[in-house]
Amino acid sequence: MPQEKISIIGAGHVGATTAYLCSLQELGEVLLVDIIEGLAQGKALDIEQALSILQRDATISGSVDLSQIAGSRIVVITAGLARKPGMSRDDLLKINGEIIRGIAEKILTFAPEATVITVTNPVDVMTYLVQRVSKIPPERVLGMSGVLDSGRFAAAIAKKTGLSPSQIHALVIGMHGDLMVPLPRYSTVCGQPLTRLLSPEEIEELADQTVHGGAKIVKFLQTGSAYFGPAAAIVEMMRCILQGRKKILPCSAFLNGEYGQKDIYLGVPVKIGTLGVEKIIELELDPAEKAAFDCSAESVRGMIKMLKDAHLLPQ
Ligand code: LAC
Repeated sequence: MPQEKISIIGAGHVGATTAYLCSLQELGEVLLVDIIEGLAQGKALDIEQALSILQRDATISGSVDLSQIAGSRIVVITAGLARKPGMSRDDLLKINGEIIRGIAEKILTFAPEATVITVTNPVDVMTYLVQRVSKIPPERVLGMSGVLDSGRFAAAIAKKTGLSPSQIHALVIGMHGDLMVPLPRYSTVCGQPLTRLLSPEEIEELADQTVHGGAKIVKFLQTGSAYFGPAAAIVEMMRCILQGRKKILPCSAFLNGEYGQKDIYLGVPVKIGTLGVEKIIELELDPAEKAAFDCSAESVRGMIKMLKDAHLLPQ
C-alpha cells in the first residue's frame, strides 16, 4: 500500500520528536523541513538509522525546500520562535505571524489539498492566520491544543487518584494559554464526573496544575518548552485523520456560531474525520464555564486584531 505523505515544517524539538514518533508508528512517509541548512536533513538521517535499528518500515527525509511538501496528505507546522527574555508577547506574535504567514503561502502554492495541523504559539491565532492565508477550508485546518492540555489534566487526575490514565477522560477547552478552560464536570474517572469524586479545592488544584503545566516545564528546562507531550498530541490527531478512527478530540477549530462565537479559532471538542473537522460537538456550559470560555475568546480576538493591525492578515 502506498504510504501517505506527512510533512512536518520546523525541525526543532517538537517537529523532530513528532517525526520520530510518527515514523515509529509507521503512519506514513515523513518529510521534515527546516530553513536552517542541514538541521532537517541531519535529524531525518538520524531517525532513519534509528528506524533501521528498531526494524520499522518507514521512510523519512529532510529538506530546506518548502516546495517539497507537494502531495502531502498532512502538513504539521511547528516552525517559529519561543519567547526569549525581554521579548513581549506582541513581539512574539508579530515574529511568528510573519514566519507562519510565509509558510501558509507555500502551503497554498504547493499543498492546497493537505489537512493542516498548526502547533506554533499562540496556536489559536496562528491557526486562524494559516487558514486565512492558505485559503484551505476551515474544516481542514486545525490547531493542536486541547489534546495536550486535556492530557495534562488527565495526568494530574491519574496521579491524584492513583488510577491508570486509561480510565480517565479529561477535557480542556478554550484558548491554549493561561485562559484555557478545564471542565471538571465533563472530565470523568471510569465514567464518574470529577465533581463527584473530589472536593472543589482538590479540583481547583488539579486545574491549576493543568493550566500551568507547560510553564512548569519551561521553568525546569530553562532554555525551551515541552516537546514529548506536544508531539504525542500531534500524533494522536494524525492517527485519527489517517486511520479514520472516529474519535472526538479537543482541538482548536474554526467556530461559526458554535459556543456563541464566530470567525475565531478556539479549543472545542471535535469529531475528527479523515479530512479534519467532521463535526463540532457543542457541550452545554454552565454560566461560569461559558464566562471563562468567552474570556478566552476575547483574548484570542485581541491577538487577531494585533495581527490585522500589523497587516499580517489578508483583507
Ligand atoms: C506547551 C506549549 C507547547 O503547552 O504550548 O507546552
